[in-house]
Amino acid sequence: MKITLDSPLDMHLHLREDEMLRNVAPFSAKDFSGAMIMPNLVPPIDNLKRLLQYKADIYDATKGEIFKPYLTAFLKNYTREELLTFKDEIIAIKLYPAGATTNSDGGVEDLSHAADTLKLMEELGIPLSVHGENPKSHVLEREKDFLPTYEQIAKDYPKLKIIMEHITCVDAVKLLDKYDNLYATLTVQHLLITFDDIAGGLLNPHLFCKPIAKTFEDRDALRKLAFSAHPKVMFGSDSAPHPKSSKEGATSAAGCFTTPIALPCLVELFEKFDALDNLQAFISDNAKKIYGINPPEKKVTLEKKSFIVPEIYGDVVPTFAGEEVTWSVVSE
Ligand code: NCD
Ligand code: ZN
Repeated sequence: MKITLDSPLDMHLHLREDEMLRNVAPFSAKDFSGAMIMPNLVPPIDNLKRLLQYKADIYDATKGEIFKPYLTAFLKNYTREELLTFKDEIIAIKLYPAGATTNSDGGVEDLSHAADTLKLMEELGIPLSVHGENPKSHVLEREKDFLPTYEQIAKDYPKLKIIMEHITCVDAVKLLDKYDNLYATLTVQHLLITFDDIAGGLLNPHLFCKPIAKTFEDRDALRKLAFSAHPKVMFGSDSAPHPKSSKEGATSAAGCFTTPIALPCLVELFEKFDALDNLQAFISDNAKKIYGINPPEKKVTLEKKSFIVPEIYGDVVPTFAGEEVTWSVVSE
């Protein structure tokens, strides 16, 4: 049995820089036609020069594949002039609450400080991508506690497209339909796991990411959205590689490297719940409409043929290392 996807897109991806970029980017470029690339580098992506250099580095790391990187900039107070210099190089601007996740220390402390920039983005038609967690809350409540902020932005900037990235809780699912200008991405790990898989038995650092996976009720609400290919929802892996030494130690960095298993696991899951007919919309068509993009034409075929997830790629341990997945990507 085979299934062919048309121009699959990953609308939330961390590619990093330098050696890590060269290690992980080819996996995205093999399986996807394009991806929205996160700007949380050190220093963050926040000016034209850096955008152009990063774009060139990504093309370099993915040479020989059909793969379009859709870049983002890190939200800070930008003037109109600044925004105009790089508006055409980005698909969105990413808001990180200060301290919420990896490399977010330079993020937003108080949203009122970003009001002028958000107004300009609304006027210029630049979508706002958001890591929606309140870093001061309990780790399991951080997303829920951020929802009033989503509501406030949605009301204050009705023409601004707001993407609730990697949503993980049932209350975020409920909020999605309350405002026309709210959209969401879903990762593969949050469709598959709960907090139990991370910390219910032996601690598994390779399933640890922000926001952290939550309850069965939350997971099932996310599944319902994905399986119905809700038109305001897109796939965004949030694949976030860290070296093995940063994941397996006294402390563990947040982020799961899911790119190599993303499509096989999604096909497996959608098949199991008899939702394969909606996978194309979830993996590409919805994103094309929401962002108004036209990614390069690329067919990606998967076959029902199992593969054992490798233990390591370079120095990065992939999610589900050593486990069997029943589908494999076989061709472009
Ligand atoms: C991401 C990373 O490592 O850059 N980590 C994560 O747990 N998802 C940052 C992010 O998107 O939160
Ligand atoms: Zn992310």
